[in-house]
Amino acid sequence: MKDDVQKLLYGILAAFVILIVVWVGSVYMAGCGFSLTCNKAATLPPLTPVPTLIPATMPAPQRAAAGAFNKCQIAAVNLIGAWVSAGYPENDPFTFTDVKGRTCQGTFYKDVQPLFVESNLWYPGAQGCSSCHHSDVKTALMNMDLSSYAGILAGSHRANGEPKGNDILGGGIWEQSLLYQMLYAPNGQTTIGRPAMPLGRPASVPAEGPLIYAGQVVTLAEGTGSAPSPTPTPTP
Ligand code: HEC
Repeated sequence: MKDDVQKLLYGILAAFVILIVVWVGSVYMAGCGFSLTCNKAATLPPLTPVPTLIPATMPAPQRAAAGAFNKCQIAAVNLIGAWVSAGYPENDPFTFTDVKGRTCQGTFYKDVQPLFVESNLWYPGAQGCSSCHHSDVKTALMNMDLSSYAGILAGSHRANGEPKGNDILGGGIWEQSLLYQMLYAPNGQTTIGRPAMPLGRPASVPAEGPLIYAGQVVTLAEGTGSAPSPTPTPTP
């Protein structure tokens, strides 16, 4: 009985050792065959060095001066208002005060026109004003073209393409303009009971429209303004 157990244990042990020898051998042979000069695990030949860290010989890049990003932030309706109040100039810059109280300057083409022509600007999914109020005034909604400077100034109700329709700019008095009344919409409701623009505007859009980046902070050029001019040394 005792012998039987011993035999069994020795048998298992022997089988285990044979298994390991066969396994290691087969792994060796799979890699190296019958050769005894196998160098599969030899060290790699020296490689051409590839520099991974390029020495910094260039001067360190200058950190952008503080305020290099000097765009202003203002609500869309207020930006259009500033442009109208300034007499709606086409090319000349107009001044406005942004949400941080900074004095800023913008221009019609760079800052105001995008509010009339770009989609997704007033809210995600918004159509640009000019997709309904487009340049073909005979078919455009309200026979009004908001796609261009001339169109905005010409106004609405130009069914036969009249050069001048109903002024929507209030003659430069922003709060009295139809444009303001159609755009200023607390909780999505205009104060005149007409649908807020852009048509379909959800109540979640702020009364004065979304905050946008526009224009630039007006800064005095270096060396001008407050800097005292040098007093010339009197010549004897
Ligand atoms: C989806 C089409 C559509 C879009 C986009 C749209 N509008 Fe309108 N707009 C209309 C319709 C329709 C009316 C007439 C609303 C009414 O029943 O009072 C209108 C009326 C107006 C009026 C009044 C014109 C008048 O003489 O009575 C103004 C101003 C106006 N829109 C400006 C804008 C502005 C600015 C935008 C972009 C911010 C805009 N609209 C985007 C369809 C649109």
